[in-house]
This record gives sequence, C-alpha cells and structure tokens, in this order.
Amino acid sequence: MKDLLKENVFSYIFMLMFLSSIRKCFGVTSDTITTTHFLKDGEDNVIVSRGGTFEMGFFSPGNSKNRYVGMWYKNISVRTVVWVANREVPLTSRTGSLKVIEPGILVLVNGTNIVVWSTNTSRSVQNPIAQLLDSGNLVVKQAGDGSFLWQSFDHPTNTLFPGVKLGWNFVTGREVYLSSWKNEEDPAPGDYTYRCDPSGYPQNFLKKGSTAIYRSGPWNGLRFGGATNSRYSTFYKYVVVSTNTEVYFQYNLTSTVIAMLILNPNGVAQLLTWGDGEQAWVPFLVLPGDNCDTYKLCGSYGSCNSNDFPVLCGCLDKFVPNNSEAWNKADWSGGCVRRTQLNCSQGDVFLKYSQLKLPDTRNSWSNVTMTLEECKNMCSKNCSCMAYSNADIRDGGSGCLLWFNDLLDIRQVPKGGLDFYIRVAASESDDSPEQSNGKKGKALIWILASSVGVILVILSMLIYHRRRKKVLERKKKVQTNLLHLLLAGRLGHTGNCAEEFEIPLFDLSTIAKATNNFSVDVKIGEGGFGPVYKGMLEGQEIAVKRLSRTSTQGENEFMNEVLYIAKLQHRNLVKIIGCCIEGEEKMLIYEYMPNGSLDSFIFDDTQNKLLDWPKRFHIINSIARGIMYLHQDSQLRIIHRDLKANNILLDKDMNPKISDFGLAKICEEDVIEAKTSRVVGTRGYLSPEYALQGLYSVKSDVFSFGILVLEIVSGKSNRRFSHPDHYVNLLGHAWKTYKEGRSIELLDECLSDTCSRSEVVRSICVGLLCVQQCPEDRPSMSSVVFLLNNEGVLPQAKPPGFYIERNTNEVEFSSNQHANVTVSETPITILDVR
Ligand SMILES: *[C@@H]1O[C@H](CO)[C@@H](O)[C@H](O)[C@H]1NC(C)=O
Ligand SMILES: *[C@@H]1O[C@H](CO)[C@@H](O)[C@H](O)[C@H]1NC(C)=O
Ligand SMILES: *[C@@H]1O[C@H](CO)[C@@H](O)[C@H](O)[C@H]1NC(C)=O
Ligand SMILES: *[C@@H]1O[C@H](CO)[C@@H](O)[C@H](O)[C@H]1NC(C)=O
Ligand SMILES: *[C@@H]1O[C@H](CO)[C@@H](O)[C@H](O)[C@H]1NC(C)=O
Ligand SMILES: *[C@@H]1O[C@H](CO)[C@@H](O)[C@H](O)[C@H]1NC(C)=O
Ligand SMILES: *[C@@H]1O[C@H](CO)[C@@H](O)[C@H](O)[C@H]1NC(C)=O
Ligand SMILES: *[C@@H]1O[C@H](CO)[C@@H](O)[C@H](O)[C@H]1NC(C)=O
Repeated sequence: MKDLLKENVFSYIFMLMFLSSIRKCFGVTSDTITTTHFLKDGEDNVIVSRGGTFEMGFFSPGNSKNRYVGMWYKNISVRTVVWVANREVPLTSRTGSLKVIEPGILVLVNGTNIVVWSTNTSRSVQNPIAQLLDSGNLVVKQAGDGSFLWQSFDHPTNTLFPGVKLGWNFVTGREVYLSSWKNEEDPAPGDYTYRCDPSGYPQNFLKKGSTAIYRSGPWNGLRFGGATNSRYSTFYKYVVVSTNTEVYFQYNLTSTVIAMLILNPNGVAQLLTWGDGEQAWVPFLVLPGDNCDTYKLCGSYGSCNSNDFPVLCGCLDKFVPNNSEAWNKADWSGGCVRRTQLNCSQGDVFLKYSQLKLPDTRNSWSNVTMTLEECKNMCSKNCSCMAYSNADIRDGGSGCLLWFNDLLDIRQVPKGGLDFYIRVAASESDDSPEQSNGKKGKALIWILASSVGVILVILSMLIYHRRRKKVLERKKKVQTNLLHLLLAGRLGHTGNCAEEFEIPLFDLSTIAKATNNFSVDVKIGEGGFGPVYKGMLEGQEIAVKRLSRTSTQGENEFMNEVLYIAKLQHRNLVKIIGCCIEGEEKMLIYEYMPNGSLDSFIFDDTQNKLLDWPKRFHIINSIARGIMYLHQDSQLRIIHRDLKANNILLDKDMNPKISDFGLAKICEEDVIEAKTSRVVGTRGYLSPEYALQGLYSVKSDVFSFGILVLEIVSGKSNRRFSHPDHYVNLLGHAWKTYKEGRSIELLDECLSDTCSRSEVVRSICVGLLCVQQCPEDRPSMSSVVFLLNNEGVLPQAKPPGFYIERNTNEVEFSSNQHANVTVSETPITILDVR
C-alpha cells in the first residue's frame, strides 16, 4: 500500500517533469499561435520566428507595471521592442493571453476572458493560426495557406521594418504610418508621426500633431529631392511608388546588417544599425539633420544655408524680405517677396535656381511623361503657376512638376540639390540669378577671370567689399539675437529644448569663491588663451577656463565655444556648465574631468597600464561617436579642426569626452571644402590638404581621428615616434607593417595579454583608412563607427598622406586639462616621404 503510493507519487512527479519539458521544448521552437496553443503571460512564454530573428511575448516597458504584447529582436542584447499589439490598452495584471479564434482573428483577453484587443478580418477560415515570420511580420492566416487575413506590417507602431509600405492604399482607404511612443514607458501613440503625404507630388513628412516639422522633399526617381542626409549607402535602398491605387515609401536592406527606422518619443527619426562589437544601436541617418531641415524656417522664397550660421536664412536672388525689420532680427518666418512684382499680362519669365531642395509639393501638379519644354509652356500659360521642374531626374530628366503657391521650405544642398525654374517679372530677365546668400563671390571671380579691364575689376572689388561688409554687419547684429534664439530653443524643432540650450551665467564673485580666488593651488593648466582652474560649485567639481585679457584670438575662440558647445549634447563631448562675462573677465565653466587628458595615459610608460585593450577600444568607439555626432547628428554640422590626444578628456570611469571647440567651424554636408589662409591646428594631426592648401572639411577631422586611433593602439605619439630601422613617422610605420601583413606588431607591448586580436587589427585598418592621402577615399564618421563594430571584410587602405616633419622647433605643450595649444600662424611645411 505504502509502496503503491510511493510509486504513484513518483510517476506523478515524473509525468509533471515530462510535461513541463515538452512544453518548454514546444515554447522554444514554436513560431505560431493556434486555437489550442496560446501565448500566456506570467510563464516566460514566447513565440520565436523560425530563423530565430524575432521573439514575441508579454513585457512591461521601463518601470511601468502595465503589460503589453510586443515583438523584439531575439538575438540582440539590448531589448528593443519593435512592435506592440495593445499599445493603447495595457493589461494591469499578468493574466493576459493571446489566442487565435474563429473566424480568423487574434485576440488578447484578460484574466476574466474579456477581449481587450483584437485583429480584424473580412474573410473567415476553418483553421486559423497566427505566425511570426522572420521579417518581423506577424500574420493571421489559414494553416497551410499563403494569403493573410491580417498582418502586423499593415499596423506598424514606431518602427518601420524593411519591406513595409509606408503610405496609402486608395482601394482600402487605409494609411500606414509610424507614430512615436508617448514616452519610454508608454507605447501609446505620442505626438509625432512619420508618414508619406500623397497630396501633390509624394513626399514624406515628420509631424508633431498636424504641424510639419520636417519634409523629405519630393521623390525624384533616385532619392528625395534635396534631402541633405539621404546619403548613399551600401546596405539599404529606398523607393517611392505612386500609382492609381497606392502611394508608398519603402526601404529594403541589401546586406545582412541589422537595421531599422524608428521614430523616437522626442520626434527624431533614426535609421539605426546594430553594432555587434559595441553591443549598441548606431544611428546611420537622423531626421531632421540640422537647423535648415526645420520645416519652412526661412518662410516663402527664403533659402536656408547652414554654412551661414548664425544667419541661416537668405532670400532667393531677385527676392527681398517681406518684412525687413523682423528679418534683420532673425525672425525669418515672414519670408521673402519678389523685388519686382509679377505682371502676367506683360509676360513673365522663368529663371533657373540651382543646388536647392525642391519646395513643398503639397500644392503641386505633375505629369510623368511631359518634357521640360512642355512643362514650361504649361506653367507660363497659367498665371498662378509659380515654378516648374522635371519630376524625375534620371536619364537627363523627364516629367513635369508645377507649383501653384508661394514656394516654401527651400534650402541649399551643395551636392544632391536640384534645379528648378521660378516665375519672375520680365524686367528681371537680363541676367541669370545668383545663388542666394553665401555664393556671391562666384560671379565676381568670374568677372575677375575674364577681366575686361582694370576699372571693372576695381569696381567689382569695391562692390564686393561693400556687400561683404554688409553681410558681416548683419551677422554681428544677429549674433546677440542668436543667443536669445538658442535660449528660447527657436532653432530646435521640438520646442521643448529651452532648458537644454540654456547657458547659465555666473557672477564673477561666485566663480572667484569656487576657485579660492583663482588661487595658484587650484590652477591645473595653462592654455593658449589663459589659465585653467579646478573649482567646486554647488557641490560639483568644475574646471574654469579663464580668458587672459590680452588675447584677442582667445576672444573669438571664447565666442566659438559658447555658441557651439552650448548647443551640443552628447555623452562623448565635454559638457559646459556655464559662463561668466563681467567687465573684462570672460570665463567658461565645464564639468571637471578627474582623469585629465588621454595623452597623459597612452604616452606614459607607467600610466599606460591603466588603459587595457577593452578600455582603449571603448575609447576609440566613443570618440568616433562623438565626432559622428558633430559631423552629422547635431543640429549644427561641425568640424572640430583640432582633434588630438590632449583634447580628449577622461571622466572618472575613463569615458572619453572631446573638448576644446575654440577652432571649430560650422560646415554644410561632407562635400563642402572650405579654405583658410590661416592654418590652425596641431602638428602631427593635420591632414595634408589642410596643412598644404588650407582646405578643411569633415575629412580633415577623419584624418586626425585616424592618427588618434593609431596612437591609442600603439601608445606612441605620431610626432615623436622614432624607429631604429627607418625614419618615417608612426603613420609610415603603421602603413609599412600593414602592407606586410604584420599590423598587429603596432600594438603597445603593455596590452598584449588583454587584447582581442581581431579588434586590434580592425582598429588599425580603420585608422589607416582614415588617414588615406585623398580626402574622398577616407570614410565618413558614420562608416567608421559601422566598420569598427561589424565583423566583415574591411576595404583595403590606400597609402596614407604621410610625411616626415622638417621643422622640429614646434611648440611643446603640457597635457593639462583644457590647455589650449599654441597654434602656429604660418602654414606648416610638409614633405612627402616618397
Ligand atoms: C545570435 O548571436 C550569436 C552570438 O552573437 C551568434 O553566434 C548567432 O549566430 C546568432 N543567431 C542568430 C539566429 O542570429
Ligand atoms: C478584464 O477587463 C474587464 C473589463 O475592463 C474588467 O472588468 C476585469 O476586471 C478585467 N479582469 C482582470 C483579471 O483584469
Ligand atoms: C476593426 O474594425 C473596426 C470596424 O471596422 C474598427 O473600428 C477597428 O478599429 C478595427 N480594429 C483593428 C485592430 O483594425
Ligand atoms: C523590397 O523587397 C520587396 C520584396 O522582395 C520587393 O517587392 C520591393 O520591390 C523591394 N523594394 C525596394 C525598394 O528594393
Ligand atoms: C508679406 O507680409 C504681409 C503683411 O505682413 C502678408 O499679408 C503677406 O502674406 C506676406 N507675403 C508673403 C508672400 O508671405
Ligand atoms: C500690368 O501691365 C499692364 C500693361 O502695362 C498695366 O496696365 C497694369 O496696371 C499692370 N498691372 C500691375 C499689377 O502692375
Ligand atoms: C501627360 O502629358 C502627356 C503629354 O503631354 C499627355 O499625353 C497625357 O495625357 C498627360 N497625362 C496626364 C495624366 O495628364
Ligand atoms: C491654373 O491652375 C490652377 C491649379 O491647377 C487651376 O485651378 C486654374 O483653373 C488654372 N487657371 C487657368 C487659367 O488655367
């Protein structure tokens, strides 16, 4: 009797174990929900797509207690929810289950079997199932059948998967669009949407409520017409398709990279790629990309140029501000009007405007088969037609696009900009239009080149200088307004950034107290433009950079830092806490970086052991992200121009932060190359085109970054490097070993036991790609981040722009915090090694 009981208990326990193991097995492998197999909360129950890419189950976002059914990447260490079923109707307890029921719908029921969310169907089937596909599509269908009753691709939340059609189906009358989460803990639809607008010629809009924030520009057969950062990429492609039955935007991935387009709760759309090395998402594309991406910032017929920061807006040629007073105060919303009014009966003419983002096409008309000539005729016949252009730029251009309203949301796009033709009064036809602000010099250079006579030259120079003076005066006037704008967050698109941009102003007495009256005991450095002190302000350690009274150069750099750094927010950029301007005194107050600058570690024989390989790889990656942010993701596009080991500061956890924006410049896209007669920067980090010709671009920063990478890996300074066998610098040495397949030899000896060989070799290769002779060959910073973090074959580097330095009487500088380099006023002479 006792034995029998025992036996029964055992077999019972055995059966339990058996059952649970079956269920576990089933749970792990299943990608389907059926009428008998549910997805239940509270049991770690999930379904997984067949190839193991996506997983679905119940989850609570952040600290929220609410329960949702969601989908995420199974294999990614950071839980990234890409779709939510019941985003507006959370469950409040862990009792929900997701079932399939007849006639073919998926239902989410709570603990008392009340349906809180369900899918729809217009058909009924016998044996419905729901299946999670490897594309991230959750579909409801008849078991064994291919056609879907319902699919999650028609109901995206904040994430656009490759292959999904974002837009309108005119047959079903349904629109598919993205809407942001309310916040990180609430997936309910928030303020922002990203959608394809089919009114007029199709274009994508990012909106807050019904207010447009960003516009992609019309599709021109290849890309969005004038989008600045729809950069060429090898891993995705996109199209806009427009037919009688549907209009949609769609992108596909063309490599195995993991990527997604996501709309954040704060209204920023990002194309993210997964970085395996760093185990984090890396933004490849960010919208809006800069100030000029702000929808209709410059009003009608105004044109935005981010190079002209802070005066972003100018009127198109032949146009003048509608309200000059407001315009001069940097209130550009009134836009511009024609200098000479139209008189249609007198016969207006059309002038060509180039390199621009095409205006808003919501009030436009198009025909894809007409020629440009037919297009022009059609536009001139209708007095309310304001402009025309080709609709499709492929094969020399075809189709016709007509605008019937004032032209809105125009910006300059040096590369990727388009041509269009604007109606102006007949009397304006005598010469072709100049480009708006910033391009005035071109016509003059032309006049000079074809110099008709000395007088003409002198005259034009006079005009040029007067114009230039006016522009400068205008800039100055706006400078003060600008600070107010920054404070009010007017230049941002979210409107709630006011606090973020605030630069607190401190009293001199407060700072004097914080630094023990600028005592020598707390002086931690001496830079090119003055001493740096450590202090204590409201319980926080600070570094105070004090401008010496005699430095005029320092004054410009001071303004530079206040203007630039205040707008920059990134964990890899040093944070400004405030400034102090009182009488003659000008000071900048930063967060204090207890570990000083990077050079004091990597170039020091004892300190170098404190930075093992994982830390160094993290530093390389973080610096890359900081620069990528400067070049591309911040609202301004900034070239730092003085990247070097002693401008990289380390916080208490050895996280690097880029500092010293005194020499930084705003730039437009990666293509622009600016020229300066005064080469500033630091020997050993200057790219050849900058040092020799004074040409700088984002690619000069990429070059400096490449040097930094090689220095971090090798623990040797490029300038001070010496080798017993040859006389080339570090760069030359790195290239030599790389070519001979021995690049691992570059590694700092002290690192050998902590390193991942593949990361080291990858870093060296990326470093060498960055220092290639030709700027066009160097990768962009987003590619750098991508290359550093993804396994896969790296391109072969071409020879670096390497050189030996003839001049050795260079200025030595200490490695103190914020110490600014003394810059040489004369261009630096550089010898090619070959
Ligand atoms: C998941 O990640 C691991 C390690 O990163 C990798 O080995 C494996 O192939 C991945 N599996 C899938 C299905 O992507
Ligand atoms: C299910 O929802 C119904 C209706 O909202 C509610 O009355 C009931 O309490 C819920 N049951 C549970 C277990 O949450
Ligand atoms: C299902 O259809 C009804 C009526 O057409 C609609 O109100 C509801 O929002 C739809 N639900 C879903 C999940 O599409
Ligand atoms: C994306 O892939 C789908 C399915 O293969 C295809 O139908 C579509 O044309 C592709 N779109 C683009 C932009 O390549
Ligand atoms: C110019 O300003 C006037 C008055 O401020 C306004 O009514 C008009 O619409 C503006 N014109 C344009 C083209 O914006
Ligand atoms: C347009 O030109 C005609 C003929 O010269 C003239 O009578 C008319 O007043 C003009 N209209 C405007 C608005 O200037
Ligand atoms: C487009 O233009 C062509 C040539 O002028 C014409 O034959 C065609 O009917 C037009 N299509 C539409 C939709 O207007
Ligand atoms: C001009 O074009 C507009 C917009 O298409 C149209 O409403 C208007 O009737 C046209 N006017 C003439 C004279 O054709």
